[in-house]
Amino acid sequence: MTAKECILGRRSIRQYSDKPVDESVLREIVEEASYAPSWKHTQITRYIAVTDPAVKNKIAKEGTTIWPGNGRIIEQAPVLVAVTAIKGRSGYERDGSFSTVREDRWQFYDAGVASQTFCLAAYEHGLGTVILGLFDIDTVSSILNLPEDRELVALIPLGYPAEEPTAPKRKSVDDLLTVI
Ligand SMILES: Cc1cc2nc3c(=O)[nH]c(=O)nc-3n(C[C@H](O)[C@H](O)[C@H](O)COP(=O)(O)O)c2cc1C
Repeated sequence: MTAKECILGRRSIRQYSDKPVDESVLREIVEEASYAPSWKHTQITRYIAVTDPAVKNKIAKEGTTIWPGNGRIIEQAPVLVAVTAIKGRSGYERDGSFSTVREDRWQFYDAGVASQTFCLAAYEHGLGTVILGLFDIDTVSSILNLPEDRELVALIPLGYPAEEPTAPKRKSVDDLLTVI
């Protein structure tokens, strides 16, 4: 698979087969995602893979009141990956001051770059993903027992696809690009 095939072929997958995901495959995906760039190479992104159905279903039921449709996606997926960021490093100088006026928002940028790299790596292994932003942050953080120094950024259900969605239409290059 070429990089272009990977970038164009990946789709957000919201229906999964029952086939389990081997931990060895999950480990390969995380290793590949570790090659994502990050602020001063701080590598602040951490992944929590929830495979215990009881914990996963608790997140699906109690942690998606903001958008219950996401709960139904999480229930089906054999694995739920919580993308988390270690706070206080990305966007900071060594003395603890912010490097730029964007303050600590670079930590979300890093986690976003890492998330897409994770999804592309998963796709290359034949696995489907969808980045979820609509969930109850405090409830899910508490179910995951996230420590104070970690921030929950996104949830990514992971599993073998049971659907082949077509790509939603993209904006044209003329809309997207300004050359000056
Ligand atoms: C930051 C972010 C948050 C998203 N949140 C959700 C979500 O809560 N639920 C969902 O079903 N899809 C979510 N998506 C997936 C988008 O809807 C999807 O990427 C978009 O429709 C384009 O489809 P494609 O990924 O197949 O190209 C999210 C994507 C991103 C990048």
